[in-house]
Amino acid sequence: MTDNFVKVALKSDVSKDTIKAVEIAGKHIAICQSGENYYAISDICSHAKVALHNGQIVGEEIECPKHGARFDLKTGKAMCLPAVQPIATYPLEVRGDEIWIAVAE
Ligand code: FES
Repeated sequence: MTDNFVKVALKSDVSKDTIKAVEIAGKHIAICQSGENYYAISDICSHAKVALHNGQIVGEEIECPKHGARFDLKTGKAMCLPAVQPIATYPLEVRGDEIWIAVAE
């Protein structure tokens, strides 16, 4: 399995209040910022398949807009009900002003 990094956004496209949704290799991914850090996490809630980029960042977690489940931005772990299953996270690199992520083939 090989990871291929692709450019998905500029740092200026993402903020604490702006989650950028991208689709790479058929995967829906949310690019998030928390503090100084950027994260790439599945954009699909594991509870009822709602797009998470319409939710919000709370600390180091992303909160689903539908029923309020939260997922750890680093690990994808479900942090509170109603979600119990984790979601995928992806390697992310900041290269200058650009954000690159890797999605396994
Ligand atoms: S769809 Fe996300 S918590 Fe229910």
